[in-house]
Amino acid sequence: MGVKIVETALRDGHQSLFATRMTTEEVLLALKELDQVGYHALEVWGGATFDACLRFLDEDPWERLRQVRKVCKHTKLQMLFRGQNILGYRHYSDDVVEKFVELSIKNGIDIIRIFDALNDLRNLECAVKATKKYGGHCQIALSYTTSPVHTVEYYVNLAKQVEQLGADSICIKDMAGVLLPETAYELIKAIKANTKLPVELHSHCTGGIIEMTYLRAIQAGVDIIDTALSPLSGGTSQPCTESINYALEGTEYDPKLNKEMLNIAAKKLAPVKQKYLDNKILNPKVLSCNPNILKYQVPGGMLSNLISQLTQQNALDKLDDVLKEVPNVRKDLGYPPLVTPLSQMVGTQAVLNVLNGERYKMVPKEINDYLHGKYGQAPAPVNQEILHKIIGNDEIITCRPADLIAPEFKDLKKQYKGIVKSDEDVLSIALFGDVALKYIKKRNDDAIPTKLKLEA
Ligand code: CO
Repeated sequence: MGVKIVETALRDGHQSLFATRMTTEEVLLALKELDQVGYHALEVWGGATFDACLRFLDEDPWERLRQVRKVCKHTKLQMLFRGQNILGYRHYSDDVVEKFVELSIKNGIDIIRIFDALNDLRNLECAVKATKKYGGHCQIALSYTTSPVHTVEYYVNLAKQVEQLGADSICIKDMAGVLLPETAYELIKAIKANTKLPVELHSHCTGGIIEMTYLRAIQAGVDIIDTALSPLSGGTSQPCTESINYALEGTEYDPKLNKEMLNIAAKKLAPVKQKYLDNKILNPKVLSCNPNILKYQVPGGMLSNLISQLTQQNALDKLDDVLKEVPNVRKDLGYPPLVTPLSQMVGTQAVLNVLNGERYKMVPKEINDYLHGKYGQAPAPVNQEILHKIIGNDEIITCRPADLIAPEFKDLKKQYKGIVKSDEDVLSIALFGDVALKYIKKRNDDAIPTKLKLEA
């Protein structure tokens, strides 16, 4: 059987290229065709799509999901789920996590890809249990990074634990696009040899190497790969679906996708890309490859954040020092993978260390919380001297962080009675607070024009 394909255009594609701004109308444009391509699944939902709907598009993210489900009769729908952070940026209580899983599945999701930035499996337990309880396919993703502790053995060990935890499949989530071809080959061979689960690879073209990595992964027996339809592929996004389909044609790995449907869908989505190029939300810079991310081992998004932080401080000449400080901060913190929210936290700390001329003179609240154990367990021991300097003799949480969070759902439902129209609304508020509330009030007042977004 050929390699299976997950189409990411409608989630990671526009998230990576133009800040997740695709509207529901644009998402629906080529959906009928995409539904007939023969994908393993369509990735359509996740933290940024949910956030952008409420914050920028005046749209109900739940309604988008229902509309997508209505059109997709043949293809499974997939979402990305940040463990105990759900689709938000902090840890939520277990009852909110469970309710979110329940309603995601009820509204149309088939496959939930669950991950934790630190690969602390305790942060996945609740979401995994709920996914199984409500009949979803539970995929656990391992956040991929490079460090002295993040070896092939580390990931194989993690994969075995993930299988024990009840995952239906495993994903290697290389959010930075730094997985080298030969490492991928070795890693996937080893995981396949040590677990019975299907293995999927998710990566980004940012560094210019990932088509090679995908090919080696396929030769090692990877079951599923993530690609994006041509208008939403390449650069900081995924490799191109059509090209991969051609490259593997006639081989034992042939994905056998429907080329005619791919062609029509790509034609329909090309003007959407052009629109975001024209309105400058899509910066052409993100479309070319950036091998620096391989040198510095930082995700592309983090690199551009650092550049803009330093530009604002009028200190862009310090970029090299900051890029040298990033691995030092990572080491001090026990090598956290650089994925949301850790990428922002580590980046900010590195900037502060360099600009203040003294390391850890200033420490953001999030780093402080991290050192108190509130994000879970660091992959490797934290630098004790620095830990002491920052938190003194404070107690460190060693239990599962969410054990300390009281149930939230019922209280929120009561508190916003009269405003919320559904449990879905309550969850939007639980995750995005005022941003969701503002949208829901506007929607209830009928203050949202119906034809708003096509020309945005
Ligand atoms: Co991604």
